[in-house]
Amino acid sequence: MTLQDNKSRYSPEFDVAVRGDTITADRYISPEWMKKEHANLWPKVWHLGGMLAELEEEGDFIRHDFGKESVIMVRQGDDTIRAFYNSCPHRGNRLVLGDAGHMPRITCGYHGWQFTPDGVLAKVQDPDDFPDGNPCGKVHLSSLRCETWGPFVFWCMDDDVPPLREWMAPLQDRLANYGLDNWVRVLKLSCDADFNWKIIRDNFNESYHLPTIHPELATFINDGLPTTLFEMYESGHNSMWMIGHQATTRTDYHSAEVPAPLDDIARAWGIDPADYKGHTGDIRAAVIEAKRRLGPERGYTMYADMTDQQLVDYFHCTLFPNLTLTMSPEQLQVLRTEPHPTDPEKCIFQHWVLMPPIKGMKEVATPIGNVPLRHDAVVRHSKYGDGVSLGFVADQDLSIGTTQQQGLNSRGFKGCFLPAQEKRIQRFHELLNDYVEGRR
Ligand code: FES
Ligand SMILES: [Fe+2]
Repeated sequence: MTLQDNKSRYSPEFDVAVRGDTITADRYISPEWMKKEHANLWPKVWHLGGMLAELEEEGDFIRHDFGKESVIMVRQGDDTIRAFYNSCPHRGNRLVLGDAGHMPRITCGYHGWQFTPDGVLAKVQDPDDFPDGNPCGKVHLSSLRCETWGPFVFWCMDDDVPPLREWMAPLQDRLANYGLDNWVRVLKLSCDADFNWKIIRDNFNESYHLPTIHPELATFINDGLPTTLFEMYESGHNSMWMIGHQATTRTDYHSAEVPAPLDDIARAWGIDPADYKGHTGDIRAAVIEAKRRLGPERGYTMYADMTDQQLVDYFHCTLFPNLTLTMSPEQLQVLRTEPHPTDPEKCIFQHWVLMPPIKGMKEVATPIGNVPLRHDAVVRHSKYGDGVSLGFVADQDLSIGTTQQQGLNSRGFKGCFLPAQEKRIQRFHELLNDYVEGRR
């Protein structure tokens, strides 16, 4: 299969050739594939472990369970963060069972071994009973690499992977103007789902599904193909700019009244939608002007550093292999899937929403409704299908997962058949092939 490049949609500066590997079903269903990912993919990438905001004092910790692995990140006395495997060096017991908290000593629940926040063994029962003498001060927790970016802590199991910022390139620079450092995670939602983790990765690597799965977005996000810009980077990360504050050009909204909810969005910035009847596409420029003029007095001081495009459009960044950051100037959505510990046909879906800490703002609008503007205002884990919302748009994305997994199990499925605009999916799977076969 060959995908024809369409240069009007792929940025000439950031385009990557694809080979045309067949995207076979086994990667979504087979335990062998899952084992190869476990051995050759997951150790070689950076993982978003949690929020710096939860690690304020020495001994504060957060835990991130990933597949069969579990990692703890701990604030040190020198203000750095260190990461350790959550496994006791004595006989392997999981050390930390909570998601976050404070421990002056990391203490194992089995025989009571105690470790200082830097992972050094500090106290054991019967210290003189060890053949080589008291192990305190000599035995350490097994550590991993740990780095921070913006409000986040990341960990990585491999010493040869580039440092976090280099690994993220160019997205760490492209996202800098949003001023994410002190943004607040207000939602931490997750669910167990009955499909392989890559089903939703593929979904986030294309916008082909917007008109069919998210028709409601068409009145304020221009999902028209010629107007959407895709960028693909050598690293495997990619991004997509979708024009916001403008209805789709797939259908003719532009010569009519300003559609909802764009009319209310315009009014919120002091713009009368009636003035834009017949040329609704021009509202976007009016919002840019209004945000520049009114933003600072409303507390949006970070607007000053943003480009016009950043002020009104959606910047959807997909980091290889499993992290999506969807940026708008007033909200960051973190969306990702992680593998189930043992079952290739299951995954864990996570949706975090971060908001800027606007002075005086007590409540913010999120994909599950209004919530207080404070860290983890809503934290919940559910089973997909039990009727608990993961956010309106995320629910729509998840709605296809189970049936797609079922269809991929069919003998009749011969491999994906992609249009050019889904080239990011093709690239994702080719890079994945390289990783699982040990070529990266
Ligand atoms: S396994 Fe941790 S103290 Fe024994
Ligand atoms: Fe979607």
